[in-house]
Parts: sequence; C-alpha cells; structure tokens
Amino acid sequence: MSACYHQSAASMARQSSFASSSSCRRDEHRSASLKISKATPRRRRQKGDNNANTVVTKNALVPGPDDQKVQRNPRPEYIPGKIQDPSYVRVFDTTLRDGEQSPGATLTSTEKVQIATNLAKLGVDIIEAGFPIASPDDLEAVRNIAKVVGNKVYEDGYVPVICGLSRANEKDIACAWEGVRHAVRPRIHTFIATSPIHMEYKLKKTPDEVVNIAVKAVKFAKSLGCEDIEFSPEDAGRSEPEFLYRILKAVVDAGATTINIPDTVGFCLPDEFGRLIKGIKENVVDVSANDAIISTHCQNDLGLSTANSLAGIANGARQVECTINGIGERAGNASLEEIAMSVIMRGQNQLNGAYMGVNPVYIYQTSRMVSEYSGMLVQPHKAIVGANAFAHESGIHQDGMLKNKSTYEIIAPETIGVFRAEDDCGVVMGKHSGRHALKSKLGQMGVTLADDQLNAFFDRFKLVAETKTGGVSDVELMALLRDEMEVEEGKEFYTLVDVQVVCGTMGLPTATVKIIDQGTERISACVGTGPVDAVYKAIDAVVGKSVELTEYNVKAVTQGIESLATTRVTIKPTDESTAETITNNQTEARGTRTFTATGADTDIVVSSARAYLSALNRMLSSNAKLTTTSGSSSLIESSSSEIVSR
Ligand code: KIV
Repeated sequence: MSACYHQSAASMARQSSFASSSSCRRDEHRSASLKISKATPRRRRQKGDNNANTVVTKNALVPGPDDQKVQRNPRPEYIPGKIQDPSYVRVFDTTLRDGEQSPGATLTSTEKVQIATNLAKLGVDIIEAGFPIASPDDLEAVRNIAKVVGNKVYEDGYVPVICGLSRANEKDIACAWEGVRHAVRPRIHTFIATSPIHMEYKLKKTPDEVVNIAVKAVKFAKSLGCEDIEFSPEDAGRSEPEFLYRILKAVVDAGATTINIPDTVGFCLPDEFGRLIKGIKENVVDVSANDAIISTHCQNDLGLSTANSLAGIANGARQVECTINGIGERAGNASLEEIAMSVIMRGQNQLNGAYMGVNPVYIYQTSRMVSEYSGMLVQPHKAIVGANAFAHESGIHQDGMLKNKSTYEIIAPETIGVFRAEDDCGVVMGKHSGRHALKSKLGQMGVTLADDQLNAFFDRFKLVAETKTGGVSDVELMALLRDEMEVEEGKEFYTLVDVQVVCGTMGLPTATVKIIDQGTERISACVGTGPVDAVYKAIDAVVGKSVELTEYNVKAVTQGIESLATTRVTIKPTDESTAETITNNQTEARGTRTFTATGADTDIVVSSARAYLSALNRMLSSNAKLTTTSGSSSLIESSSSEIVSR
C-alpha cells in the first residue's frame, strides 16, 4: 500500500530520465493525476465551516485547483504516538506560529483561519495554529481554527491535528488547551531549553530543575485530558546528547507522544543533525518501541534547514516541522514546499521509501496566500515557489524545453498548482464588463460574494476599470478585492472618500483628505516631506491616534506603467490607549502588537492612503475587541513572565 502513496505523488512530477523506478502503478497514477484539472475552483460551503462568509470571500488570491477534482493522497490512520506505516512522515506546519514570528509578519485572525483552511487542503497532518498565551487575539485565532478547520472531517477521515504552543508552565499550558480543545484532534506543544547556554543564562536553572519542570508540564497537559502532547527541548542542536536522552526518556514516561528536536539557532550541519536524530532513536527506548514520534524543527540560519530536515528523516524522524515559503524567526524555518517536493521526488529512492500525505497541487496557491497576508515576499529564485522557479531564460534551455520539458524541469508546474497561460480563466475584465461578468469571473477564481458585497465591489471595480487601459488582470482583480475586503472590515471606523495631493519641485507637498468618521464627513489638509507623508499626516489629523509607521512598501501588481499599485503598511501604536502587549515565546520579551494592511489603486498615493487607513482601522477594531473581552478571560489577562518558576 505504501508504495502506492508515494508513487502517486511522484507520478505527478516531471519524470526525469534518471528516475529509476518504473512500475506500472506509476502510469496508473499518472492518469489519476491528470484528473487534477485546471483552474475552475468553486468553493462550497463546508460542514463545520461556521465562518464561511469571510472564508469564501478572500479564499483565493490566485486561481487554484478544483477542490472537487483533486484526488487527495492517502495516509495511515492518525494515532498520536504511533504511525502504523514506518515509511510515513508527518508534516507539522508552523506557518501560523513560528512563521508569524518572522520580523514584520502579522496576520489577522480571519487570515489565519483562511491559511489554515488551505493547509488542510494541502493535507498537512498537524497545524500549529499559534501561541495562545501571547495575547487574547492569538488565543481567539487558535480557538477559531480549532473550531472551523479542526472540525472539518474530509471524506477519507482526514482532519488536521490543531496544536497550540506553550512554555513549560501551567498557565501557558491551560491557555493552549483552551485554544485547541475544540478540535477533533487537539495537541499541546510544550517546550523548555536544554542547552548549557540557555539553561545557565536564560533560565538560570540546573539540568535537574529543567527535567523536573519538563516532566511536570507534560503531566499537567495530560491531566487536562490531552492525549496528544509534544515536547521540545529548545536549542537541542546545541544540547549535550546524553542530557537530551535523559530528559526525553523522562517526558515520554510522563506522557509525551511526540518529541521534537529543534535546531533552534540553525547551527547544525546535515550529517551532525542526522547523527543527533539517530542517537535519540537508539538511546530513548520508548521511541524505538514506537511509543513516541521523533520530529525535526530546523531553523535556517546557515541556509541548511531543508537539508537538515531531510537528514532527520533519513535517520528516523517521522515528523518534520516546517513553514510555507520557509518563513520564521530570523532567517526562517524549513520550507514545507522544499521538503515535501524533495520527499515526493526522491523519497522512494533516496530516503528508504519515505512518503507524505500532502497534496502538492495546493502548494502554489497557499504560498501566494501566505506571502500576500504576511507581507513576507518570496525571493524570485526561491526553490519550488519563486517567480523564476519555472522560467527559462537562456537560449540553450529554451531550446531544450521546446524539444522536451524534462530537459530542464524536474517538476511539472501543474504538480504544485502553477497553471500556465493556456490554463487561464480566459475572460479579460475591463470598463465594459458588467456585474454578471464580474460575478462569473470571481466564481472561476474560487470567490463567492454575497449580493451586497458584490455590489460594493462592482462599484470599486468600475471606478478602477474606467481609468485603466489594458483591462484588469486576474492578479489585479484579486489585489482590488483584498483592498475592498479590508475597507469593508474597517467601515465601522473610518472610510476614505477622497485624496488630493499637490507635490513636485515647486512647493511644499500638500495633501487634503476627506474621510467618513462614523457617518460624519471630515476634511483635513496637511503638508509633509513628500506626498505620502502629507497624506498620512492629514489622516492622522482626523483619526487622532499616535502610531509609528514601521513598514511601507509599494509595488506594481503587474508589469508596465498601467499596472495597479499595491501598498502594504505596518503600524505600531505609540500611546498607551491603543498599544496591546504580546509575548514572544522564545525570548519571552513582551512587545507591542503591530497592525498591517494593504491597499490597491491605479494611483500610488491613493493606494498608500487606503492601506494606512485600513491599518488604523484594524488597530481600532482590535482595541475595541479587547475592551469587550477584557474580564472574560482571566487566563490571558495575567500572561506571565515568571514562566519557569514552578
Ligand atoms: O526554534 C525552536 O526551538 C522552537 C521551539 C518552540 C520548537 O520554535
């Protein structure tokens, strides 16, 4: 049976001349893969999808596969500490936790649910949905994901495990449990550092104390009724192997079902990390008896996270932790798409038959969604999902491609959901397109809008289409839709009506803005160092909140002078009435929550203004939610910094 699983995926990849295995099953699955058809996605309302309205409207930023036609890859039954097929490797996605810790990345609760929904389509086994103690918002996001995504059971019985991170103390663990317990398969992930440098300087604890804290934490998680517990010895890559064996044995005895080995600072080389995993497999008896799964968690400080994760698999790890696009702390985490495609392409021949349950056809759509929502751009030459990953520039390569695509492509782009031009939806939207055409175009792209949303979006689309030659491309339409949804989210606060700027070399850059403030029209005018600065000052004069602009990024959506511009801004509140505190799970530093939003328009100044006002609206909406919920959750009110003192 297991041979069937990995070959099914491998068969979707371009068959290179050196791919040695050639069973008839491969052909069988090649024809199966052809049923994964081009982009005509239709998002149905699904059982357990109680946030369906918002999920539907923003679900597809780029066209993806038709969910109904995708043949999902099978996997062994999920049992927390066991995998019945020794070749199966679980995928633990931590985009929403480690990924969200990337400097500058912030995701709203709604965006997190949407990303988690795509991760389930992608078929990851475990979704680490967040670090619930960090803030009320983080807890709410984890709870939403557990309720929505963690309850949607697919026809084949697949439902992702929903995991919440906690430090090794009761308050964190109880809060994580409160987030994940609503899922069909909840998991608590608790951790404490084990390297000499972390124990001495960060924790100021002896190794014996650290073992006691870890064991107590796991027992506490179990006492809450959690059957699926993951323990991580943080900075394992720089820990003494003998001490690791000792603490891992103790936590497995206490009830841990997965032991995750983080190379927290990305220090190990592949052979070294492989030996570490092998040593753990051989020396932690319960693990070799298959009572707990060994997992990898490799940071990318030396650019080795994918190689290290694969070395882990080769030496017995049966779970890999990774993120979409490799986002994460500092230089990032291991990239899901790189590991998954390596296993799909080479697992059979090079990794003792290792295989995964991921459905790679969702990789590209999920990658774009994460990049767009988190603001973490994907470098053009990034493996698998970079803009150039399937581009062929040199004449010799182009010649080879024309003769046979396998000469220079080891993966067929459709395998990961990149549909080439001939698969386009066809219709080009422009100023003559009507409401019906817009609805049908959005439908082809997997987006369904309620009637009032469609009407509002149609008005916006018309305004843009009328001033733009060359029509509105699919990506531009998606950028506009995202902008419109953000405006919609914030409309109970401020709505931008008009922007006017005067700038150039002959005077002071001056901006005038007209804004609706809960039904009242307000106009303000300011001068600034440039047109955008002047607009932001004019908006500030209306909103009256003090914030620091920590990121400002404007880019053309497509090529050429006619392109729509999208702007992404991140703001950080600088006064007490709006600042919200969040906790970084590794440094334990408490910081101020930042707010990010995007805007789109043919005019870069208008696009910038829309993004800024949406970010301010997000901040105000979050502040309002906090005021409503304060007092209802004693767990999070007192989120602690005395975490390891129990
Ligand atoms: O990098 C790390 O050590 C972590 C752990 C919490 C798994 O993120």
